[in-house]
Amino acid sequence: MRQQFLPITELDQALPYKRLRDASWDFKGIPASSGIYAIHPYPAMFHFGIVRRVIREFSQVGDWVLDPFMGSGVAATESLLHQRAFVGYDLNPLAIHIAKVRTTPLPVAAIKLSCEHLYQHYREAAPEFIPTGPNLHYWFDDSTVQQLSRLHTAIRRLAETDPEVERFFWVSFSEAVRICSLSDEQEFKLVRRKTRSPSDVWSIFARVVWKNIAAIAHLSNARALFPMRMHCADFLHAEEDLEPNRFDLVITSPPYGDSRTTVAYGQFSRLSLWWLGMSNVSDLDKRMLGSRRQPIARDLPSPTLYAVLDELAHRDLKRAEEVFGFYADLFAAIQRIAPLVKRGKHVFFLVGNRRVKGIELPTDKICADLFESQGYQHVRTYVRSISNKRMPVENSPTNIPGQRETTMRYEYLVHLQRMR
Ligand SMILES: C[S@@+](CC[C@H](N)C(=O)[O-])C[C@H]1O[C@@H](n2cnc3c(N)ncnc32)[C@H](O)[C@@H]1O
Repeated sequence: MRQQFLPITELDQALPYKRLRDASWDFKGIPASSGIYAIHPYPAMFHFGIVRRVIREFSQVGDWVLDPFMGSGVAATESLLHQRAFVGYDLNPLAIHIAKVRTTPLPVAAIKLSCEHLYQHYREAAPEFIPTGPNLHYWFDDSTVQQLSRLHTAIRRLAETDPEVERFFWVSFSEAVRICSLSDEQEFKLVRRKTRSPSDVWSIFARVVWKNIAAIAHLSNARALFPMRMHCADFLHAEEDLEPNRFDLVITSPPYGDSRTTVAYGQFSRLSLWWLGMSNVSDLDKRMLGSRRQPIARDLPSPTLYAVLDELAHRDLKRAEEVFGFYADLFAAIQRIAPLVKRGKHVFFLVGNRRVKGIELPTDKICADLFESQGYQHVRTYVRSISNKRMPVENSPTNIPGQRETTMRYEYLVHLQRMR
């Protein structure tokens, strides 16, 4: 029998599965995109308040922190700001670019000067680079393509200056691409807007650059005293920097489910990647954790998982196999993470309990079960409201336009400790 779920209220309260509704993790009223995190939006980005608190309470200066699904690098940035060494992985090259900009202190005066040069270059530049992505003109009108191409030429001409300043401009360019495109910026998936007035690319880009200059100023006191390693690779097949017993802390937020019905990081990044010359990574969403449907095997160490899977399989076997594929990958990731952490040290997994076909998937408890099978103790799960996070409160569980289902209003921060 599945455990009955108590409704979560706004009061702090103890719930089943060692859950605690604890509003002190909500950081209500503080946008996740504050300070340095104003640089480039990213879906399902960590609230920095969570990572900051975990890093302060569960690690020391000089300790090694790992985020195997690092996204836009909130854990990397907080590691830098708190003088921890960091290793991170992400499949998405755009995420790595954003994370590198957010963790590279730059002299603001140098960026401002380069921006003046850039404007001169832009005025003289010819459109040279046109992305090879399909349907380019479905997503950009002709004038925008020409203007973006001229800006691309101008940024390339900056290449003889500092590569880190250049990267700052590429990431700002990527933000401008999103705003200038005909896609709806508020959506995680690529959805074409019905109407839009033509873009003045330079003024949009300049606005983004000024915003990002203000954001980068938040790094002015940061010093990278310890290594910061960020790898663009599939964590399930990664080797580099992953020796057993190396890490003092793991903090991560893996994908919430398959990219088809939850957050499509590849789709979110596609137009930017085209313009950054990475059209070849268009199959990103097919390579993400949990994107392969798998026949249901009975070998994952979580009775909670099979209780919900059996119920789901009864309603829709195909969806149940997709869901199983996600948890099979998640278990593979947990098996890789488990030995990397020193004994006695801590892991924090931030997960969402989405609904599929009306059934809530208790990913927090499933993660706890999977870690317990690897010699970890489940300490506690904090339940936080995601009211201030850029996440869909509704998803499209069937991927049919218009069919939506209320999904996560809460996130679950699962705290685990390695015992053996
Ligand atoms: C919830 S997001 C992480 C967001 C991140 N915490 C932040 O603050 O921006 C999950 C990330 O996992 C990445 N990802 C998915 N599958 C992966 C894999 N097999 N290896 C490495 N990264 C992967 C996605 O590209 C995405 O950036």
